[in-house]
Amino acid sequence: MITITTPDEMRAWSMSRKSRGRTIGFVPTMGALHDGHLRLVADATQRCDDVVVSIFVNPLQFNVDTDFDAYPRPIDDDVAACASAGVAAVYAPTAAVMYPRGFQTRVVPGALADLMEGPGRPGHFEGVTTVVSKLFGAVGPDVGIFGQKDYQQLRIIARMAADLDTGIEIVGHPIVRDSDGLAQSSRNVRLTPAQRDAAVVVPRSLDAAVAAARSGTPADAVDAARSVVFAEPSARWEYTTVFDADDLTEVTRFGVRSPGRVRIATAVWFDDVRLIDNRDLFED
Ligand code: PAF
Repeated sequence: MITITTPDEMRAWSMSRKSRGRTIGFVPTMGALHDGHLRLVADATQRCDDVVVSIFVNPLQFNVDTDFDAYPRPIDDDVAACASAGVAAVYAPTAAVMYPRGFQTRVVPGALADLMEGPGRPGHFEGVTTVVSKLFGAVGPDVGIFGQKDYQQLRIIARMAADLDTGIEIVGHPIVRDSDGLAQSSRNVRLTPAQRDAAVVVPRSLDAAVAAARSGTPADAVDAARSVVFAEPSARWEYTTVFDADDLTEVTRFGVRSPGRVRIATAVWFDDVRLIDNRDLFED
């Protein structure tokens, strides 16, 4: 496995692989790799000849400096995990390489970024689309794999990849969960043991919503989810919303109750750690 730190080197590596007829699967990450990331790598391995993982904690997408500073950066462990997972190349540029003096271009997402997480995190998705387009430019993948935990991000990136004629196939990989249901996230390591136990209310709140949605309204589903979170004293509920899986607009009345059409998402805080989760409201 090779570790690459500049876009020129990355592009040269990818072009040499492609000139041999090999396809490239790409898993962009901010590091602190967990089993969820390794499942994305496994998925990419099934689809493509070579897998590239990028590791870059992107300052443009953080709203709060302390969250950026606190973001875990176990780079040696991450590189070792990639090597064991059969990754062909790790792309790990520095912030100075990604955003040198004079950098000023942004990729501005459309309406999908104004909904759900958007209003509470101004500039976040613009930071994501900007960095992902730079990473796409350097890596030149055939397929990009993204986790469904960040469902809005996945939809925005799929839209961007299509709108900008990248020709890159965007794949959404199902959420990987711990045995108690908590969605795997690099932020989970920042929870104290007591908070980690309490955090199970996040997936359980969505389970409650799924049950309520069978015979109730979207508002009933949100109420059911919210009461589960409210019952946990260490949890601070931020939002729960029922939304259209395609255009992300809020769903206030159920039409067809079939899988794949309507999802529910939530954000819950434990002190300064913000966890998000989502799921299909009518999956089998
Ligand atoms: O999902 C993430 O880890 C990040 O938002 C991404 C896609 C790597 C861009 O920095």
